[in-house]
Amino acid sequence: MSTAPPPPAVKDQDRIFTNLYGEEDWRLGDAKKRGDWHMTKDIMWMGPDWIVQEMKDSGLRGRGGAGFPSGLKWSFMPKASDGRPSFLVINADESEPGTCKDREIMRKDPHKLVEGCLLAGYAMRARACYIYIRGEYFNEAMVMDEAIHEAYTAGLIGKNACGSGYDFDMYLHRGAGAYVCGEETALIESLEGKQGKPRLKPPFPANVGVFGCPTTVTNVETIAVAPTILRRGASWFTGFGRKNNAGTKLFAISGHVNNPIVVEEEMSIPFRELIDKHCGGVRGGWNKLQAVIPGGSSVPVLPIEECEEALMDFDDLKARGSGLGTAAVTVMDDTVDMIAAIRRLAHFYRHESCGQCTPCREGTGWLETILERMEVGDADVREIGMLDEISRQIEGHTICALGDAAAWPVQGLIRRFQPVIEERIADPQGFDFEAHFQHAWSGEKFKNAEWTKEFGGGKDQEVDPGAHTNIIRPLLEN
Ligand SMILES: Cc1cc2nc3c(=O)[nH]c(=O)nc-3n(C[C@H](O)[C@H](O)[C@H](O)COP(=O)(O)O)c2cc1C
Ligand code: SF4
Repeated sequence: MSTAPPPPAVKDQDRIFTNLYGEEDWRLGDAKKRGDWHMTKDIMWMGPDWIVQEMKDSGLRGRGGAGFPSGLKWSFMPKASDGRPSFLVINADESEPGTCKDREIMRKDPHKLVEGCLLAGYAMRARACYIYIRGEYFNEAMVMDEAIHEAYTAGLIGKNACGSGYDFDMYLHRGAGAYVCGEETALIESLEGKQGKPRLKPPFPANVGVFGCPTTVTNVETIAVAPTILRRGASWFTGFGRKNNAGTKLFAISGHVNNPIVVEEEMSIPFRELIDKHCGGVRGGWNKLQAVIPGGSSVPVLPIEECEEALMDFDDLKARGSGLGTAAVTVMDDTVDMIAAIRRLAHFYRHESCGQCTPCREGTGWLETILERMEVGDADVREIGMLDEISRQIEGHTICALGDAAAWPVQGLIRRFQPVIEERIADPQGFDFEAHFQHAWSGEKFKNAEWTKEFGGGKDQEVDPGAHTNIIRPLLEN
């Protein structure tokens, strides 16, 4: 854990996603005014190797959860074809509870992603790109589809993309709503028309990916930030965040804050500053805070003592026994029954397990059933250790990381809230279940109601099934 003072917060002129709240149109005309597609051909003429090196120098780490260095990942793709084409696949499955950042890019700033696909695809010598979008993102898929059409019509992608002499096609593929299909090899299987079940690695996708061809699967945000990095330079990007945690980042903050929001901030921003500055603080005040899941539902929970000092980056959160993951921050105040919250997550992972590996298929069920009993105090204290042991038998013993994702929240609960479990087992009657039940909505007026009335509702999208072009219209126009 670093004791170095955190860097100052990001300024507006340094934000990459300048239409995150949909104040302007997402279409090509406005996107170009915001700087998208500027000098794209010139960047391409610098060559694939220059682009990959620039991405390495920028220190960008994948925004899909694992934080693997992106430039390095791009460099794994073959420089010369052995007869097979190469493919770029964009992971827009975004199904982890709490995570909702890629959605904002796709529905408000889709050209950032389309341009990023061209540049990344060119750098990897890919013939085409598939965007695999979760099935529930219907409106987002419509916007993305239209943005791709706009780019084709303007000659930005397709044959001789941007006049560069390079041919690059893009396809949008809708998933059918399985979380596991966000795992890169399950996604590839699904894209090929099979059941979305993860493959054993090796071979890795860069060798054998979609349709047996070299493939890079990468997250929406990772690719959408690439054009701005290439335009403004790697050193501009490394100017944000701490060493090894470069750049700006989308944070999706939900739960018990006054204003839930998706916001772009500097990496390494202190957690407390993020919440106070952008979310109007914790509901009822900081002292009401009980715990935070800082990186999507799969990372271990942090108690309030850690949140006081935590910096929102890969290394600091890892050192505190959690992780940045997808930077989806779920804030829980003292009304939350922590056992019930983690039991609910256990249910999710049990439901989403594809069933190929015994530890995951059986273990996720055991985690949920034991937690169900612990929640109502119907357990023996010795079972806390057994629960932990089950999670350790799942972690690291499965084909894909869904097993780890199921194990970590339970381990976090035991590590941070063991006395709460012990108390529940010792005296179930002493706990007021009704007081801790989380209703979906209290019925109270939202604190940001005025803001959403002005900026939110008017930008909602609806589909006109009659027309192909101009298929999306802001509701206000009708
Ligand atoms: C069960 C599971 C679900 C995942 N879901 C997503 C997802 O929805 N979006 C995503 O970008 N990565 C997801 N990942 C991570 C991907 O496997 C992969 O690491 C990521 O797309 C790489 O992108 P990046 O290098 O840009 O971070 C998931 C992983 C697992 C194990
Ligand atoms: S870990 Fe779970 S989800 Fe992943 S392959 Fe094994 S059974 Fe399927």
